[in-house]
Amino acid sequence: MKLLLLGSGGREHALAWKICKSSQLEKLYVAPGNAGTSEIAENIAMDINDFKAVGNFCVQKQIEVVVVGPEGPLVNGIHDYFEETKKLNHITVIGPKKEGAIIEGSKDFSKAFMKRHRIPTAKSKSFKKNQIEEAVNYLDQKDGPYVLKADGLAAGKGVIIEDDLAEAKKAVKKLLSGQFGSSSETVLIEDFLNGTELSAFIITDGVNYKILPEAKDYKRIGEGDIGLNTGGMGAISPVPFANREFMDKVENQVIIPTVKGLKKEGIDYSGFIFFGLISVKGDPYVIEYNCRLGDPETEVIMPRLKSDILELFDGIATDTLSERDVEIDLRSATTVMMVSGGYPEKYEKDKEITIGELDEKSVAFHAGTVVRNNKTVSNGGRVIAVTSYGKNIETALKVSYSNIEKIKFNGQYYRRDIGKDMIKKN
Ligand code: AMP
Ligand code: GLY
Repeated sequence: MKLLLLGSGGREHALAWKICKSSQLEKLYVAPGNAGTSEIAENIAMDINDFKAVGNFCVQKQIEVVVVGPEGPLVNGIHDYFEETKKLNHITVIGPKKEGAIIEGSKDFSKAFMKRHRIPTAKSKSFKKNQIEEAVNYLDQKDGPYVLKADGLAAGKGVIIEDDLAEAKKAVKKLLSGQFGSSSETVLIEDFLNGTELSAFIITDGVNYKILPEAKDYKRIGEGDIGLNTGGMGAISPVPFANREFMDKVENQVIIPTVKGLKKEGIDYSGFIFFGLISVKGDPYVIEYNCRLGDPETEVIMPRLKSDILELFDGIATDTLSERDVEIDLRSATTVMMVSGGYPEKYEKDKEITIGELDEKSVAFHAGTVVRNNKTVSNGGRVIAVTSYGKNIETALKVSYSNIEKIKFNGQYYRRDIGKDMIKKN
């Protein structure tokens, strides 16, 4: 099989690493990729939102499967473009069309969808840009904390949680006055859910689905879950409290109604679905849907997937996903993200990275890295995720933390408490 993988983060390095383990792989290209993917596949410098360029490349290289890592190209319609373009419509795109990517692209849509299909989620009300007064009055009737969400994509900054009523009012006014352009023309005010978060994942052909390992990521920059939100500072899998009983609830109350609901609404969905969940007293609620895998969750999911991922992609290509197996490694996997000092605010790039020899139970998944003048240098806020296996979360974390010492770059920072909260419950 010849594949093109789109993206350049730790998620894509982990996907590429997993794809490269398949005996069915003939050739893997990654666009644009990073220093890590360049070691195991061929990087292609290409704008992944330039669909014409992506399409031409696929024709030239006889690509059979395009795996889309980030949400951007999906929300922008890369799958639709491939389907509508004659010379490309035989190519399998792993990722939904625009009509499916809307589950991530519009929180207003996904909230209404969940209500239509009785999928547990926080109660919420939507307000348009000409309803600032109504939104403010609604806040007056509520107790804090106040959860405000811009409808559209806002580079991870579109959710505001505010304890203070006056501040929440200010924030909703700012949002509805165009803080994120068209993305905040509609704003949701949602009830606050108090619980523990986790992420669940499936791969689906629109009818059948396979459940991938669940994970928990650590979003805040500071130890003890304080400070600014980031793309994710680490992850663990499995999640100790997500026992059989809980995961059965996730499957029955969330996954099945979502897949059936999409089909019922005529949305032909293929690819991954990422369920951002919160467990409130042992019951799952959906916080958000994403039309892709998570980062850094993928850095712990791929290592725990024993089955050949190309078998799953082939299942989507040939509508035979139901016949494919998903076998999960019973070991735990943890990942700790090394970031550039200052991230998620201003940080420096181009720091030389040295990577010593890691333990065989560890792998360094590159995120913001690039090869320049034969040197691997940092090229983003999140730089390298160190993933390790262990018989449980605690041992896997020990291996991640001892191996992270072997990776060095100026200004590096990482959280030392990834997974700690879950060890007590292990
Ligand atoms: P999202 O971008 O929708 O994942 O939201 C970002 C973060 O906001 C989530 O990871 C949660 O920590 C938090 N969050 C979102 N919605 C709620 C809610 N209804 N109640 C409590 N926390 C929430
Ligand atoms: N780690 C959260 C995300 O990928 O959105």
